[in-house]
Amino acid sequence: MATNYRSLVILTGAGISAESGLGTFRDKDGLWTKYDLRDVATPEGFERNPALVHDFYNARRRNLIEAAPNPAHAALAALERAWPGDFLLVTQNVDDLHERAGSTKLLHMHGELLKIRCESCGNVLPCREDIDLSSACPACATPGYMRPHVVWFGEMPFYMDRIEQALNGCDLFVSIGTSGNVYPAAGFVAEARRRRAHTVELNLEPSEGFSHFAEKRYGAASEIVPAYVQELLR
Ligand code: OAD
Repeated sequence: MATNYRSLVILTGAGISAESGLGTFRDKDGLWTKYDLRDVATPEGFERNPALVHDFYNARRRNLIEAAPNPAHAALAALERAWPGDFLLVTQNVDDLHERAGSTKLLHMHGELLKIRCESCGNVLPCREDIDLSSACPACATPGYMRPHVVWFGEMPFYMDRIEQALNGCDLFVSIGTSGNVYPAAGFVAEARRRRAHTVELNLEPSEGFSHFAEKRYGAASEIVPAYVQELLR
């Protein structure tokens, strides 16, 4: 393997799962063109109308269970297996398609759709079923407190310390399938650049932060990600 890089951080967003049939957020027909994110992706929205929020995530969970990883997910899993140095895949996605493709060095900074959490006792548990207001926590037996284990706007993303540490030490940062609208993830490229890492954007089109990237490739993830990985591993 000819790479001169020692430490790789990859950031993925909804665009990597688009060809698996999972909707993105901000594209034409994206989820945020159909739903007001203040209703379904904020703690205030959940307080106002928990049934609507449960319906939204129940539908996304069902959709996810029927979806399958695509060649872009598979390429990143192969890259992890072959990479000789430090490797971290940070995803903003709440789907489990990276895991199903074989990725293991992976952090879900915006949570996981196939997990739910009890707001009363903090218990986190796997979930593949619909939940509603009557769902009770198996640990504390209190009904009415279960919520999706996802990060909503106004909440702190998960694993920020570990992510910052990896960004501080990386010499290659690759961003895939994200529009660069949501912080802190949208700021990772600038942090990586400050550490003099080489920065690469792989996306369908230039993102909000495209000018921060030293190298850019545009096209469908299922094509450009395997091609880029093949080049890195050559
Ligand atoms: P967005 O929907 O904002 O952006 C998806 C990006 O993927 C866009 O730039 C598209 O051009 C690109 N894209 C679409 N199809 C693609 C394909 N087949 N191949 C490659 N790229 C493609 O999604 P994110 O940037 O992931 O957070 O959104 C970030 C966060 O905003 C999400 O994690 C979610 C959302 O609100 C929370 O809910 C907290």
